[in-house]
Amino acid sequence: MNNVARMKKTAKKFVIANWKMHGNLEQNQSLLTHYVNQLNSLKQTQVVVCVPYPYLSQVQSVLEHTDLAWGAQNLAKNLNGPFTGEVSAEMLKDFGCEYVILGHSERATAYCESDENIAQKFMMAKQHGITPILCVGETLIEREAGVMELKVGKQLDTIIDLYGVDVFNDAIVSYEPIWAIGTGLAASPLQAQAMHQFIFDKLTQSKEAQKNRVKILYGGSVNPQNALQLFKVENIDGGLVGKCSLSAPAFEDICQAAELSVG
Ligand code: 13P
Repeated sequence: MNNVARMKKTAKKFVIANWKMHGNLEQNQSLLTHYVNQLNSLKQTQVVVCVPYPYLSQVQSVLEHTDLAWGAQNLAKNLNGPFTGEVSAEMLKDFGCEYVILGHSERATAYCESDENIAQKFMMAKQHGITPILCVGETLIEREAGVMELKVGKQLDTIIDLYGVDVFNDAIVSYEPIWAIGTGLAASPLQAQAMHQFIFDKLTQSKEAQKNRVKILYGGSVNPQNALQLFKVENIDGGLVGKCSLSAPAFEDICQAAELSVG
């Protein structure tokens, strides 16, 4: 099944592992083997594993012929050319990548990625049949000032203004409040619900958009204790998981929570 066919199964939840800059060949092999043994028979949940570039070949060889999919954590905005250190969409396709995380706040902050840059990468992924997982979210200061919807709205509007709202059809958006990432302090279901509703309303205005509905995930300190409560919230279609994706038992519990939250 390709990724667009997967997305069309609208009731399915997504649980996406973001390994960030962790792992080595030996640890990855063990973690991926556990993932396959524990998660290959899930019915309601699509598991995706986003790994550092050098491990794409490894993840491809372990996960191909399973129901788990894989992806990368960034993508060049250009097709090819003299861009030292960049990796193109075609290169990701060579390793069977169906997904790519874009605009993660850890990149946006450390490497000064602008919303316009991220928008170009988003389009590049779409043009190559790679599902973009666009990260949006506000800082603690922005939340305390009550401007979180303004911030997230602007991140989405940069893409909408350039390419139109229908570019989000069959894409994934992950709401990741920056204050919740890696802090152990997840957004409450109420906080998440309000933002997910805001994103949903913004991105599902047309009939076409409702049919090929964008998936909206939550990311930021998702763990086995809070996953079920979060995944049951309306318009939360699953989670983008950092730290807990590096532990096979914790990740399995989170995926089981996604499974339970459906129906
Ligand atoms: P944590 O799950 O470690 O908070 O990370 C979330 C994240 O950044 C996912 O992209």
